Amino acid sequence: MKDISKQADDRRPVRESATIDSILGAASEETRASLRVLGELLGNEPSSVVPPTQFAVRHLGIDALQLASTKFSGPGTSLAILGNLLRLEMERHAGRVMVGSPGDGLPPTWAQIDIGPEERLTVPGRLVAFFPAGTLAAEPLCISIDDRHWQREFAILSSNAAKPVAERVLKTLQSRLKSEENPLRGRVLEACVNDGCVRVSVSPALHAERSGLVLPEDLWREVDVFLASATGRRELLRSLGLGTNRGLLVAGPPGVGKTHLVRVIASELAGRYTTILADANSMRHHVADLYAESDTFGPTLVVLDDIDLVLGHRDGSGDNTGLADFLATLDGVRQREDILTIATTNDPKSLDPAAQRSSRFDMVLTLPKPDEACRARILRRHLDPLGLPLDIPALATVLDGATGADVKEVIRRAVLEYGDQFTQSQLVEIAESGRWQAALNRRRYL
Ligand SMILES: Nc1ncnc2c1ncn2[C@@H]1O[C@H](COP(=O)(O)OP(=O)(O)OP(=O)(O)O)[C@@H](O)[C@H]1O
Ligand SMILES: [Mg+2]
Repeated sequence: MKDISKQADDRRPVRESATIDSILGAASEETRASLRVLGELLGNEPSSVVPPTQFAVRHLGIDALQLASTKFSGPGTSLAILGNLLRLEMERHAGRVMVGSPGDGLPPTWAQIDIGPEERLTVPGRLVAFFPAGTLAAEPLCISIDDRHWQREFAILSSNAAKPVAERVLKTLQSRLKSEENPLRGRVLEACVNDGCVRVSVSPALHAERSGLVLPEDLWREVDVFLASATGRRELLRSLGLGTNRGLLVAGPPGVGKTHLVRVIASELAGRYTTILADANSMRHHVADLYAESDTFGPTLVVLDDIDLVLGHRDGSGDNTGLADFLATLDGVRQREDILTIATTNDPKSLDPAAQRSSRFDMVLTLPKPDEACRARILRRHLDPLGLPLDIPALATVLDGATGADVKEVIRRAVLEYGDQFTQSQLVEIAESGRWQAALNRRRYL
């Protein structure tokens, strides 16, 4: 009889046994550091698993009474980006830097930050690292980081005598936050509230061009004036002591292109300014934290879309939970350079008069519904590629009173119903029927 089990055995590939060294050799620097501390922890060898202060005292070779701590306390994103700089320094001085436990006998932890749709960085989350003399500075220093939101801290531990050195190192690291070394700088970010604090992440590409938005010429000129404080006139304003900080309130009925305009502005400032798009929760409850995040990026554009949904009248006619905070923050922000705010609202009257006060928003732009000529331009933009024999001016007349969003919806409905071949009368019939609109809110153009 055939020995089946033996046959099966023969077919098994010959596996080389992996040695601990080969496993560790393939592991990342982070994994190796964690495993080493874990190993010491299990082996009851206390050199790296002591609390960060004791770790620092040992490695700095000082008495506990001589230990000084130079702390940074800032918003969560700053901490993550400082963590990334710490990672870079650990890599630069690999082999000389010693990593230790963040305390409680735990191994170091790493966290991930999103820097793009498919891109992530692994940064230190909770750990302490010792940098010998001649690495980070001429003096030996330790850096401890803790990213738990109730404990958030980045601290440089040094001897009392080396505290000025630690302060200089921290200052340099903070200035590097606002340089190209910050992978989130100049990007479009979304802010939301998670675990009781504001978190920002990279927003999906939101590029928008002026050519896609049909507005009267005088409105574009006002947009240019607003942008000048961030671009061409920035240095001049600064040198004259006139402040570069501007607030723009974009008002207008639903569907006239307010959000689209904000996207155009954010796209034009991308690279120079970091844009933070605030969600309703961060606007309502965490507006101060939202602006604090701008400390991480240098020039920042804060976008508060649809603020009327969040900030109403103080007389109780709207939801005004965050209004006092909002007003106080906006007043504070005005003292700071390089922060632009753009807010949008359907109805500026629904905002508290104090929120609109001209010193809070330097400029109010009211987007009108498009006139006949503008409606024709929007129609052409979407219909010309089809090359159909349509009477655009006549369609623009039929769509009297329509917003840009309405015009787009009518065309969309026609494409959904007829594909790329439809006639003038079919398009007019759709516009007049109102069936391109959600049933709740039907309007007809006659
Ligand atoms: N003037 C316009 N030119 C071209 N497209 C427009 C115009 N106005 C609106 N649109 C289009 O209509 C859609 C809705 O516009 P958008 O979201 O900017 O409106 P909104 O004013 O922010 O509305 P809401 O108050 O409801 O938020 C977008 O696809 C936008 O491109
Ligand atoms: Mg909008």
